[in-house]
Amino acid sequence: MTAMTLAIDIIKDEHKSMGAVLKGLQAHLEAVREGRDKPDYPLFQAMFDYIETIPDRVHHPKEDETLFRLLRLRTQEADVILDELEGQHQVCANLLASVRRAMGAGRESGDLTAFARSLDAYAEFLWEHMRKEEEIVLPLAERHLTSQDWEAIQAAFQANRSQAW
Ligand SMILES: [Fe+2]
Repeated sequence: MTAMTLAIDIIKDEHKSMGAVLKGLQAHLEAVREGRDKPDYPLFQAMFDYIETIPDRVHHPKEDETLFRLLRLRTQEADVILDELEGQHQVCANLLASVRRAMGAGRESGDLTAFARSLDAYAEFLWEHMRKEEEIVLPLAERHLTSQDWEAIQAAFQANRSQAW
């Protein structure tokens, strides 16, 4: 395997983990709202803590510092989409904070409608964000980055693997 395929595999794998967490949260909340399950708030909190610790503090910064930075050096073709995605990385933490607030309010009032809406919007935002990275940025990166670039990206993302994904 080349550094390129390894790096792309790790990035997609991390997206999958993130997607699985989001789906799990949505499925649990749906079960609660349909009366099939009791709300497990420690589970919600643990999953939100996970998103804050790994995707927000490790995965996104690593994309900004390696993949996006190098791609900007090699082409201007990706500038618009990279500006958009970097902006989204900046607001991810704020969005998560508002999901947590909606959960707290729902927990107090017993009405989880706004929490569900906020969680769905957050999940939708991240799905769309990851889809753009995979369908737009990675193909551009495959076209424009050098093998040294991919080695640097792979090394950076490989270093993530020691952390608990
Ligand atoms: Fe990503």
